[in-house]
Amino acid sequence: MTVPIGERGLGPLPGHLTVGEESIELPSVPATAGSDGLAISSLLAKTGKVTVDPGFMNTAACTSDITFIDGAQGVLRYRGYPIEQLAASSSFLEVAYLLIHGDLPTHHQLDEFVERIDRHMYLPEDFREILSIQPRASHPMAMLGVAIHTMACFYPESMDPLNPAAVDLATVLLLAKMPTMISYIHRRAAGYALLYPRRGEGYVHNFARMTFARPGEAADLPDALAEALDTLLILHADHEQNCSTSTVRLVGSAQANLYASIAAGVAALSGPLHGGANEAVLEMLARIRDSGRDVPSFMTKVKDKQDGAKLMGFGHRVYKNYDPRAAIVKRSADKVLAALGVRDELLDIAREVETIALADDYFIERKLYPNVDFYTGIIYRAMGFPSSMFTPLFAFGRLPGWIAQWREMMTDPTTRIGRPRQVYVGHAKRDFIPWEDR
Ligand code: ACO
Repeated sequence: MTVPIGERGLGPLPGHLTVGEESIELPSVPATAGSDGLAISSLLAKTGKVTVDPGFMNTAACTSDITFIDGAQGVLRYRGYPIEQLAASSSFLEVAYLLIHGDLPTHHQLDEFVERIDRHMYLPEDFREILSIQPRASHPMAMLGVAIHTMACFYPESMDPLNPAAVDLATVLLLAKMPTMISYIHRRAAGYALLYPRRGEGYVHNFARMTFARPGEAADLPDALAEALDTLLILHADHEQNCSTSTVRLVGSAQANLYASIAAGVAALSGPLHGGANEAVLEMLARIRDSGRDVPSFMTKVKDKQDGAKLMGFGHRVYKNYDPRAAIVKRSADKVLAALGVRDELLDIAREVETIALADDYFIERKLYPNVDFYTGIIYRAMGFPSSMFTPLFAFGRLPGWIAQWREMMTDPTTRIGRPRQVYVGHAKRDFIPWEDR
């Protein structure tokens, strides 16, 4: 349960801020791990000043007990459990339960959760038609936004954000229909008809079959594919207050329903500096390959910031060390490619880029390491996904985290509508100039 700012904030070590002549005591908000907070909400009333923090470099918008990251040490934990243990021993739906409900499920709880999701995986025919009338060339993230918004039209009984039963239903419906929607978006772009989910086939296996089975052919998908997908989904399942999650919380703070909030998260995730980075990584690696595979001169361009060039898949606002998810993905890339019988020159180029970057002062000084997106695209490509599907797959994985964070925000008694301040730097008052005088 989230401890309200102020209640657990009256700890022994408040901060003191001197503004002009005045020293103001700022209540401490103790953390169980990581940085404590200082509550600054009263600053405006006491001093007439607001704090300015573009990009939220130092501002915690909430307290949360879902995910912990230590960026300096490369640590990521969901509800206290290290990501390495979850990736090795858990399943995506078990992790979804953990994130949303706070603890690992008992056998009975997991069976019930999985069975309920299994029951709701189908998409109504009219729903499919709404997706079918979008242009075939639509970007899959635009299609996913349409699909999530469409859920609000089909399931109005699950929209009340203040009704726990409605929220629970929306949670199950979103988790259940996400794989079917993503497989349909993929197949529609490829020109294939949607396949239906099968009861009891398993969540990720169902997704893999619905996505990859060829019309008229029996699906013969290696287990390694579903296993790797399951792991990738776990690795993406939450990442505390990143851009899309903060968007989900902000939209939800206006008491917008869960579908509207998640659709906003999808929109935020589509940006190339966030979830769109995995797609950008592959484009970058392909450009390096197509221009003669000259990795060193590409790296020089990046360091010189020529035309705003960046090394996509490198750097992170929080990790100033190897992203622990990237380490897991890198290890599984070889395994997956071998199991699928794929050899990919882009993986060799990626390794070369990484080796050069990790030994180069530019990247060392700025603490730029591979993030989760650096190697995921190579695995998705080996599985047969076009690069435009990479970000929807990220959204698929992130869904339980968005839901858990939204639910935490909705039940936190300290939540108020999110409404940042600004420092106005525009004109002073001036008089309107009539049209004929301009
Ligand atoms: N390539 C080259 N230089 C970089 C990179 C990069 N990928 N990332 C940061 N830098 C440089 C910046 O130019 C800046 O240099 P300067 O000090 O000379 O001005 C310095 O490192 C600090 O970078 P910031 O932009 O201030 O870092 P910020 O925390 O604002 O940005 C971000 C983080 C957006 C992830 C950035 O590193 C980036 O654009 N990376 C590439 C895109 C990417 O991979 N995004 C995925 C993020 S993970 C995720 O969403 C799952």
